[in-house]
Amino acid sequence: MIYAAVMGLGTIGSGVVEILEKNKDVVTDQLGQELEVKYILDLRDFPGTSFEHKVIHDFSIIEKDQDVKVVVETMGGLLPAFPWVKACLQAGKHVVTSNKALVAAHGTELLKIARENQVNFLFEASVGGGIPIIRPLYRCLMGERIEEITGILNGTTNYILTKMDQEGQTFEAVLKEAQELGYAERNPEADIEGHDTCRKLAILTAMATGKEVDYQEIHTEGITDIEAKDFLYARQMAASVKLLGSSQIEGDSVHAWVLPVMIGRNNPLYSVCDVFNGILVRGNMLGETMFYGKGAGKLPTASAVVADMIQAILHMDTNVEMGWGEEKQEIASTASAKFQYFVRLKGEKEELLEKAESVFGPIKAFALDGEELEFAILTETMEEGIFQEKLSDFPFIKFIRARLS
Ligand code: HSE
Repeated sequence: MIYAAVMGLGTIGSGVVEILEKNKDVVTDQLGQELEVKYILDLRDFPGTSFEHKVIHDFSIIEKDQDVKVVVETMGGLLPAFPWVKACLQAGKHVVTSNKALVAAHGTELLKIARENQVNFLFEASVGGGIPIIRPLYRCLMGERIEEITGILNGTTNYILTKMDQEGQTFEAVLKEAQELGYAERNPEADIEGHDTCRKLAILTAMATGKEVDYQEIHTEGITDIEAKDFLYARQMAASVKLLGSSQIEGDSVHAWVLPVMIGRNNPLYSVCDVFNGILVRGNMLGETMFYGKGAGKLPTASAVVADMIQAILHMDTNVEMGWGEEKQEIASTASAKFQYFVRLKGEKEELLEKAESVFGPIKAFALDGEELEFAILTETMEEGIFQEKLSDFPFIKFIRARLS
């Protein structure tokens, strides 16, 4: 019998307890012995439940109990998650977490402590929920040089953008609906401003480069400025707007950004809709492969946690080489990243089109039926810094990066 503890019985934590119960035979078969949750650490008591007797409120009970070999951290946030996870690893316990904020902020130190103590710190559930992506990066793709990771990594924003595209609704209206359906948090900032995608991208980029990535260095823009009108233009280009997190890795140079980007129907990520996530990985030998599925939710995310628990137990006395080291990965300035640009312009059309062509080179022009006051152009691919400098001369309403050719 192996004993585990679950810290935080919220959505994911309760999913873990449920899976360990419902798939008990599967887990036992994998391990060759039973896995039992000995403690559930939470602020609440859960009277009347089958696990009431396991609920504790004092972390030190877990820390001191030598029988507890695996600790699941599903509390979220940095405090007290960080000191408690650290203490568990130092006490020689394996830790499995779904907490991307913790991994993005303290992953380097926690991975190091895990190595020093010959235990494992695993976080498959922190990116893409139930989609296998972390383990494929350090196992299935271990012979590849990863050149690019581009993903739709946030279900809430993907749901909002999909609805705006399909139903022509405003951002505010869909956000409200998403909150009512429980897809979006009451405080949706982390999702809609791109911070959640940014942390997930930092983790994936660190996995791919083997170096520490400071998520604060990743240029991040959210979707709050995307309008229903942008989708009307996008439709003319057989395109849609998606919130992408992307890292392009060329030797030591890494561009990483989180941006709303117009992508066309030929892009595999175009078909990733609603709350689903999709992650494209390009390896130098493999070419492109895509991971698709439920990036959030109780059981999908808990499933990834349980798989990590099994992985940790199967490597009870060894640290599985994975993650990244203390060397820091520089992130190149977005000024040298390359995009096409969709630009909405306001003013005298003929004159502006002529000027745009002479400044940007070949462009395509678009107009909306009945819209006299504005029109739009799509440029060819160019460096962001050069584009921004050229654009400053124009009376523009807004621009969105595009990857259409
Ligand atoms: N808020 C996140 C999302 C949850 O919408 O994808 C999963 O990390």
